[in-house]
Amino acid sequence: MCGIVAYKGKRNPVDVILKGLKRLEYRGYDSAGIAVLNQGKLKLCKKQGKVADLVNEINQQGFRTEEGIGIGHTRWATHGEPNDINAHPHYSQDESLAIIHNGIIENYGTIKQELISNGFEFKSETDTEVLVNFIQFIRDKEKLSTEEAFRVALNHVVGAYAIVMMAEGEKTLYAARKGSPMVVGIKDNEYFVASDATPIVEFTNEVIYLKDLEIAVLRDDGYEIKDLQNIAKNAQVQTIDMDLEEIEKGGYDYFMQKEIFEQPESIANCMRGRVVPEQGKLVLGGIHEYSNALINAKKVTLLGCGTSWHAGLVAEYLFEDICRIPVEVEYASEFRYRNPIINEGDIFIAISQSGETADTLAAIELAKSKGAIVFGVVNVVGSSISRETHEGAYLHAGPEMGVASTKAFTAQVTLLSMIAIKIGFIKGTITQSQFQNLISQLVLIPDKVREVLKSDDQIKILSRKFKDARNFLYLGRGNNFPVALEGALKLKEISYIHAEGYPAAEMKHGPIALIDEEMPVVFIATKDDSYEKIVSNIQEVKSRKGKVIAIVTKGDNIVSKMVDHCIEVPETHPSLLPLLTVIPMQMLSFHVAVMRGCNVDQPRNLAKSVTVE
Ligand code: M6R
Repeated sequence: MCGIVAYKGKRNPVDVILKGLKRLEYRGYDSAGIAVLNQGKLKLCKKQGKVADLVNEINQQGFRTEEGIGIGHTRWATHGEPNDINAHPHYSQDESLAIIHNGIIENYGTIKQELISNGFEFKSETDTEVLVNFIQFIRDKEKLSTEEAFRVALNHVVGAYAIVMMAEGEKTLYAARKGSPMVVGIKDNEYFVASDATPIVEFTNEVIYLKDLEIAVLRDDGYEIKDLQNIAKNAQVQTIDMDLEEIEKGGYDYFMQKEIFEQPESIANCMRGRVVPEQGKLVLGGIHEYSNALINAKKVTLLGCGTSWHAGLVAEYLFEDICRIPVEVEYASEFRYRNPIINEGDIFIAISQSGETADTLAAIELAKSKGAIVFGVVNVVGSSISRETHEGAYLHAGPEMGVASTKAFTAQVTLLSMIAIKIGFIKGTITQSQFQNLISQLVLIPDKVREVLKSDDQIKILSRKFKDARNFLYLGRGNNFPVALEGALKLKEISYIHAEGYPAAEMKHGPIALIDEEMPVVFIATKDDSYEKIVSNIQEVKSRKGKVIAIVTKGDNIVSKMVDHCIEVPETHPSLLPLLTVIPMQMLSFHVAVMRGCNVDQPRNLAKSVTVE
């Protein structure tokens, strides 16, 4: 995925766009670029590397403009390696058009062949350059206006896109989306276009979320939203509630670190107004019309990718224990390409931080096409998944900017816990007192997370001992098995240390062969039903000289005597333990990555949300 920003108005577009690109850099950071209009001509500057490299280039070149219009892009490479040439924006062949693009044009190969046979030459390896040349080709061949050529070309395009285009001599922005997010901010006669609202909130909170197959034309004399058939659409201007502070680092060195430490508040925000134990109240306003379908579900299928899939695995235990509903947890990326058995009225829950993950969206579409009812558990308000699902509930965790997901995971587990507890209570699979106990324990979680966060210094010291390890094993049982998977994912994605998560009992079926004095093993060994079993698993590792770090319940005096290092978490209801045990995992991977000199907010090869296949 990539970040796109465009501006039209009275401010200096270079300043607005560079600031916006900085905020969107979490979406991709292979290269960045900007195009403006200067004395009626298009002017472009782009650079391999981070936005900071583009800023240096801009300063060196003295790249400025007196005209208030421009487009900018930060790239996560799909077609063509990250270099200056493949960076966006791309000119059309005659340099009369410049375009930025997020997504993939699937039929670019055939279009490119047609253009080559009509004399076009290509500088880059990108599908984007094909698109902008195609628009120029149609404009010149059919003698169309820029707007018409833009619209006609998009009718021929197969794939996903969020694009913004400018033309020489025109103070107009042409934007369109299909399958990739796009927000248009509006303030008097100023327009801001971006992949999400973060570059916009500083200037305006009035936005339009462009829908799939819609085009926005932003001119001096106003704006128009149309579809690809040129039919005007009545776009709804919405007011967004996002605080600038939420999207800045607020004194922390990294977004990931800030987001780890925000968890007491983000979990509380997820529950705010929804859980009131004193009144025995648990309300989920977003699940309303289809609530009976959920309560009476014979089976629930949870869909997600990466960390969101891990949250789904935790929820499997919650739904099966608390509501006695059979659950399947599916990688959306696999599910969409199988021939899954989906019946009319089947229940799905799609889990996603960004609400834009292409695989999850495709799996939702597939389920809906067979008559299933799909609920969304999503963080980003107004995102595609929130709109494509029948009903759902937001995480209210606030913007998550670090590529490694932290506070979204705990909010997902919190929200899925609330849904399970609510259904269990209505179905009668838990008693009134079990319900009361669960919600009372749930509201104590933010304070308990605060307590776990106090082990940060201890974990930092520990991290120093293990920062040079080449491999890590993470082991847990029951609902702490998905936490082991999440711990391993966190470590590998930001520190580049190879890490595996396993159910602890599976260790003896293979991974035990890896254990030696070089192998750090992180055990989640809290006091729950599997405690005795996990103690035996720890013994098996210790007797093979493995180095054990254990996450234990406060006051534990058995495991603490057996292992090399212990991190304590407070007691809670066993169903809610993952909300506490995941926190040390996040801190461990953060410190190890920082000590290894890795950029934890922008790990190599990754992007915050994967809007391509
Ligand atoms: O935005 P989503 O929750 O749909 O994203 C899913 C995954 O791409 C995401 O969780 C990814 O695995 C993170 N980098 C994990 O930290």
